[in-house]
Amino acid sequence: MIKKPRGTRDFTSEEMQKRAYVEGRIRQTFMNFGYREIETPTFENLELFTAKSGDTIIEELYSFKDKSDRKLALRPELTAPVIRFYVEKLQMKPKPLKLFYFGNCYRYDRPQKGRYREFKQAGCEIIGVDTPEAYAELIALAYKILEEVGLKNIKLSIGNLSILSKFYEKLKITKDKQKYLNPLIDKNLFNDLKSALRDFNISEQEVKNFLELLQTSDIKKIYAYLKGDGELKEELDKLQKIMNLLKNSFDIKNFDLKMSIVRGLDYYTGIVFEIEAPVLGAEKQLCGGGAYELIGLLGGTDTSTAGFAIGFDRAILALESEGYNFPVEKLDGYVVPVNANMLVDSLKIAQMLREKNVKIDVDLMRRGIGNSLKYASSIRASKAIIIGPKEIEKNSVTVRDMKTGKQKIVKIKDIDKEFA
Ligand code: HAM
Repeated sequence: MIKKPRGTRDFTSEEMQKRAYVEGRIRQTFMNFGYREIETPTFENLELFTAKSGDTIIEELYSFKDKSDRKLALRPELTAPVIRFYVEKLQMKPKPLKLFYFGNCYRYDRPQKGRYREFKQAGCEIIGVDTPEAYAELIALAYKILEEVGLKNIKLSIGNLSILSKFYEKLKITKDKQKYLNPLIDKNLFNDLKSALRDFNISEQEVKNFLELLQTSDIKKIYAYLKGDGELKEELDKLQKIMNLLKNSFDIKNFDLKMSIVRGLDYYTGIVFEIEAPVLGAEKQLCGGGAYELIGLLGGTDTSTAGFAIGFDRAILALESEGYNFPVEKLDGYVVPVNANMLVDSLKIAQMLREKNVKIDVDLMRRGIGNSLKYASSIRASKAIIIGPKEIEKNSVTVRDMKTGKQKIVKIKDIDKEFA
């Protein structure tokens, strides 16, 4: 038996029904916020992903050479592809450009619950604007999408990478050392971080300040730490405005300021944010995003960019864990010919109803009424349409309500009214 590759999944029709339902709601919310859908290829030139992160990222990618020796990679995410598309084709479009997408992504991760090698993201990018209201709207969109799909318990945290970078600069912590420290910060391993900072000869007072900055959610304290730095005061003022807008315009009050958000990808610059679903345990991060810089690197004319992506599979897992009641896919009717002589009329009636947008299936196995009705209830048909010779003679059929078992004779020309 040939099995599916490690870290991939098959989806049953029941699962697909849930996924299609959630995708529909996410799509609607993106559109309600003025975003438009785009699509990019599943594979790109490898260089697109190494341009910012260097060759070390290759270990985390599915990369390969094609038959003409081109170096390619399955996309690990869609931000770099969308910006590549923007630089190639969309630069002249009116700003702000609000784009959203759904797409499968591929990462050579160690698979576990909620972490796959093939997974789906629902994300967006906003290009050409960097006002506090643009960022507030972006963060609110991520939050509202997750609320709108039906999640009850989500946790939004907002940070700012310029502030973290400034602290690194102050403490003269090099990029290499940052690469070592960031994962410790990301995982909130503050004791390990303390030891590492001491190893880097950072004074006790500075270590204390740094740890407090990373752990406080009080903006006044952060203002106090950054006293005297005009550039950062501007960043903090902007952060304050974004938080006020979230509360006052979008009615989002449940969030934290978190300077320990480092984000895994190398292109982020200023404001960053993450949304978690605590119910998911280890892989609880549902959404991540922020402001980033990629346009210049990819050969375009620089302008502001920000966005986020929601882990679609994790959103479904979180809904399931919260016991969300997904709507169940039903069939409107199941057509049952009582014998083979009734097949022509049965198929004809089924077709007539389908053309009126009624969801209809028909017995294709020539089984008796009993077995057909059993099958009809197993596929959750609301009604059975029984086609027998006596009724057909009178241009009629029998319609049976599958729930109550009640039956009635209905004229063929009136059957569609049974499904109105
Ligand atoms: P990311 O945080 O790497 O950001 O991924 C976004 C979301 O994708 C995560 O929060 C998580 O829910 C989901 N995810 C990531 N890896 C896996 C995996 N192996 N299995 C299942 N789900 C996963 C980005 O990708 C950025 N491009 C987001 C962005 C858009 N930033 C700006 N614009």
